[in-house]
Amino acid sequence: MAKLTVTDLQLKGKTVLMRVDFNVPQDTNLKITDDTRIRATLPTIKYILENGVTKLILMSHLGRPDGKIVAKYSLKPIAVKLQELLGQPVLFLNDCVGANIKNDIAAAKERIVLLENLRFHAEEEANDAGFAKQLASLADIFVNDAFGTAHRAHASTEGVTHYLKSAAGFLLEKEIEYLGSAVANPERPFVVILGGAKVSDKIGVIENLLPKCDAIIIGGGMAYTFLKAQGKAIGNSKLEKDKLDLAKSILDKAKQLKKDILLPIDNLIVETIDAGAKTELVGENIPDGKIAVDIGPKTIAFFEEKLKTAKTIVWNGPLGIFEMDPFSKGTQEIAKFISGLKAVSIIGGGDTAAAVAKFNLEDKMTHISTGGGASLEFLEGKILPGIAALTDK
Ligand code: 3PG
Repeated sequence: MAKLTVTDLQLKGKTVLMRVDFNVPQDTNLKITDDTRIRATLPTIKYILENGVTKLILMSHLGRPDGKIVAKYSLKPIAVKLQELLGQPVLFLNDCVGANIKNDIAAAKERIVLLENLRFHAEEEANDAGFAKQLASLADIFVNDAFGTAHRAHASTEGVTHYLKSAAGFLLEKEIEYLGSAVANPERPFVVILGGAKVSDKIGVIENLLPKCDAIIIGGGMAYTFLKAQGKAIGNSKLEKDKLDLAKSILDKAKQLKKDILLPIDNLIVETIDAGAKTELVGENIPDGKIAVDIGPKTIAFFEEKLKTAKTIVWNGPLGIFEMDPFSKGTQEIAKFISGLKAVSIIGGGDTAAAVAKFNLEDKMTHISTGGGASLEFLEGKILPGIAALTDK
């Protein structure tokens, strides 16, 4: 990549400040329920430690505490988890800037330090220059491995780069490689699968990828605005009325560009969205009062037919309400099918990554992004500020 990466750095004897995305899900007892994002940073952390740094200072946000100290968003439980995963002591500090923090770092016996939640300071999200300077003053070099936060121009992602030589970590590099290069130069056929509740969340991705891909498969709640635009009956299924014209114009554009858009041809429907609700299978048209909650078996076969010859697959958004077991079959079957293909399979973060994890298929995909919003913005073709700010090679 055109930006400095961690292997370009002289690390011996240096103190490194590294932005990670440890914004991980926790249960009500603050137990981490998915440590993927922590494990994903270990290669960079280990590389830095093995290359003779004096200290490695890690910083992250957790949740959205809005500039206030909120106990449940403390990174303390994350420090415990990191120590366990690394098998090395991690010193946790209860703030991220200030003279005391500097003194604690200088006096620390531990080589690894994790700072408290950056977002306990409003200056973080405001990308305040003074705050960024204070963070930068803790170290000699900055490494960004927080792909999940690369779409935020915050003090710890963008601001610090004005004061320190700044390089990408291995995770950031890998995400850019898969989401960037694989999409820019895909092996064809290149099939995009889009799902999730809202068309409005995926407009940017459709606009960017429609000209680049060979076909788009659409499922999930967003499919019903497209079906309605085609004149189908959708009952009480999810509809974004203000996006109907847009859905029509996307379908027209696809025709002009000779790209296939595949929509559900049968649906699993219920009267109320409840895991215990009575389900029924119907074709393309959904009766009055009924809500589509998953794609049906004919749609699964129809989508699989398109996917089976694909060489590159990018998937963002589940194809039904997969969180409820009776409505998860479409998402699960398609995930299983992709996992058995030879194609390069790239899974957007957030819900799609959670679905693949739920079905235990993580190891069978080529790449699962650690970024939710960030992977979406990347697929929209946007330049992510956290990446753009890194030092050029
Ligand atoms: C995420 O989980 O998508 C990232 O950690 C960014 O979090 P944010 O949406 O609160 O900025």
